Amino acid sequence: TRTPVTVTVTGAAGQIGYALLFRIASGQLLGADVPVRLRLLEIPQAVKAAEGTAMELDDCAFPLLQGIDIFDDATRAFEGANVALLVGARPRTKGMERGDLLEANGGIFKPQGEAINAGAADDIRVLVVGNPANTNALIAQQHAPDVPAERFTAMTRLDHNRALAQLSKKAGVSVSDIKKMTIWGNHSATQYPDLFHAEIGGKTAAEVVDDQDWLENDFIPTVAKRGAAIIEARGASSAASAASAAIDHIHTWVNGTAEGDWTSMAVVSDGSYGVPEGLISSFPVTCADGRWEIVQGLEIDDFSRGRIDASVAELAEERDAVRKLGLI
Ligand code: NAI
Repeated sequence: TRTPVTVTVTGAAGQIGYALLFRIASGQLLGADVPVRLRLLEIPQAVKAAEGTAMELDDCAFPLLQGIDIFDDATRAFEGANVALLVGARPRTKGMERGDLLEANGGIFKPQGEAINAGAADDIRVLVVGNPANTNALIAQQHAPDVPAERFTAMTRLDHNRALAQLSKKAGVSVSDIKKMTIWGNHSATQYPDLFHAEIGGKTAAEVVDDQDWLENDFIPTVAKRGAAIIEARGASSAASAASAAIDHIHTWVNGTAEGDWTSMAVVSDGSYGVPEGLISSFPVTCADGRWEIVQGLEIDDFSRGRIDASVAELAEERDAVRKLGLI
């Protein structure tokens, strides 16, 4: 039997946590032959709720689940972690300025980065889901100097999956017929879902749909504003689809992308495509042997250039703001 993988999940008592933990414990995160140990991190007021979720996890009698520990202390929660899913974050509340939001999240992601640096396993892989995800990931990464920077990623896979769903409806094809979808930039309203490199049956998706007006005025805003549309419809934010995307993100990172395809992950920029080095920005990436690589050599036309630059400029502003606050 294989040695268990330790997975730390923060915000375990939240909405996404409730949709995520059962899928991790059932083997969908890493594979049906990989035993897992869960370490859950919550704030003290939510520990009891996390304990309730742990009771339900017990009651599922998942054969792969080898233990659940619950903490309100980051240092202990990340001890020995091989995978860390940073879901818990401070949401924006009414009247909160962006600076306040960044500061509140700095207070969460700085100590979590330090805890990962201090005690996580050597092969630690981090996915930040909690918003503002890219900048929270940057804060954590900056406080984990002994962990290779490429181990810190942020989630744009939900945006990627939303783009696949919208395109499959428009083109009348199955999502599995679509290859090479890309989300560029920030996980925010400025993100750029790119149909000029996505492919359907060997043609670009932009050629297949042949409708620039739809692409610009329907597809892009629908994908970018999908989170708000879900809240409007459900009366609660997207949780199951976010959890599903987090599962996909780690599964792909660990198990690889298919030949002839790629995925979207927000990763530390090496300067590719004019994205300033060090920003955690979404790119097209391939994964193999547990490592990601930014797809190189794509031609970027003026339309895409403008969109990518706008989203990256927002990331640079967020970085400058957290720098000013002394968070990095
Ligand atoms: P939620 O409010 O239901 O749960 C968040 C949980 O985090 C709460 O239980 C809270 O007690 C906990 N928490 C807060 N501070 C913590 C800390 N310092 N340590 C540990 N736990 C802490 O929120 P939900 O719906 O589960 O969403 C979580 C985050 O994911 C939000 O920031 C949301 O904006 C983000 N999100 C990101 C998406 C993406 O695509 N990147 C998609 C959907 C949501």
